[in-house]
Amino acid sequence: MKITAAITGVGAYVPEYVLTNAELEKLVDTTDEWIMSRTGIRERRILKGEDQGSSVMGIKAVQNLLDKTGTDAKDIELIICATVTPDMLFPATGNIISNGVGAINAFSYDMNAACSSFLYALATGAQFIQAGTYKKVIIVGADKMSAIVDYTDRANCILFGDGAAAVLLEPSTDGFGVLDMVLRTDGSGEPYLHQKAGGSRRPPTYETIDRKEHYIYQEGATVFKFAVKSMADVAAQVMERNHLNNDDVAWLVPHQANKRIIDATANRMGVGPEKVMLNIDRYGNTTSATIPLCLADYEGQLRRGDNLVLAAFGGGFTWGSIYLKWAYDGSLR
Ligand code: UT7
Repeated sequence: MKITAAITGVGAYVPEYVLTNAELEKLVDTTDEWIMSRTGIRERRILKGEDQGSSVMGIKAVQNLLDKTGTDAKDIELIICATVTPDMLFPATGNIISNGVGAINAFSYDMNAACSSFLYALATGAQFIQAGTYKKVIIVGADKMSAIVDYTDRANCILFGDGAAAVLLEPSTDGFGVLDMVLRTDGSGEPYLHQKAGGSRRPPTYETIDRKEHYIYQEGATVFKFAVKSMADVAAQVMERNHLNNDDVAWLVPHQANKRIIDATANRMGVGPEKVMLNIDRYGNTTSATIPLCLADYEGQLRRGDNLVLAAFGGGFTWGSIYLKWAYDGSLR
């Protein structure tokens, strides 16, 4: 019998501090009107405090997932942490999270594919389930984007926020879970979206700090154009090859980078706005956490058998789309 990887629970955590457009108006030359009309973002959450990394949020999201699904941390076999803002370059943030939740029998590692990290990690985790190797795998997306955002750069500081969310993958023999995927990379996109320093090519020095090279660098308009085309292409491809039309798709779950990119993707897919998961207005772009945060926010409205199309685009460039069949009704708790 064919085994598929079903999502059997979601958990989430966002920090309490709310960074509003009004507050950003005081930091940089911008307006609430510009931010809302160009991006659809009203506010984002920020993790405050000393020595607080992405793992702090990842641990809370995974703990929430374990509580909601009634899962013993000791039964978890693998945790993949999707992140572009690891606590440190090593050890992996996934290791810190597995220790934090008491997943003492799990192995864990990080996956970085910029804003497509969660999608790639979900695709990878699903393989371990489908192969019959493991029965309980957690994919957690956790990003503290505020750690790499320059709050004097008006083009970027308005976009990003902090947050984490996690899903549990378990085997299904009834055809629920991940059913198809199209994943893509084009490394020639590197110049348009990256963090220049802090890696092995340009280790940190006083000069890299003075030149602000530890922050996100983005040529927004170029990235925007690629994102609109690529996300729509792969989502449409996934629909076509699975013979899904607008009526068959219950939800589009898009990466939340810009409301205009999301609208363009939905249009191209022929999916109406009532079927598009959206929370960019409250969280901004939380990079690896956007898609699972959507699943957590909309969990109550999801029904067993719903067809979901996930889609993301990010630095690299990386992009992709996953088709999955939802496995349970409504919120777990
Ligand atoms: O998730 C990873 C992938 N990333 C993305 O998907 C982000 C993709 N890009 C975008 O979402 C958009 O390009 C942005 C939201 C970043 C920018 O929107 P845009 O419509 O592409 O604006 P732009 O960069 O072409 O800038 C238009 C104008 C510029 O002024 P001039 O040169 O025309 O005078 C900018 O300086 O808007 C100006 N501008 C701002 N004005 C007020 C840029 N940021 C701001 C701001 N407030 N915050």
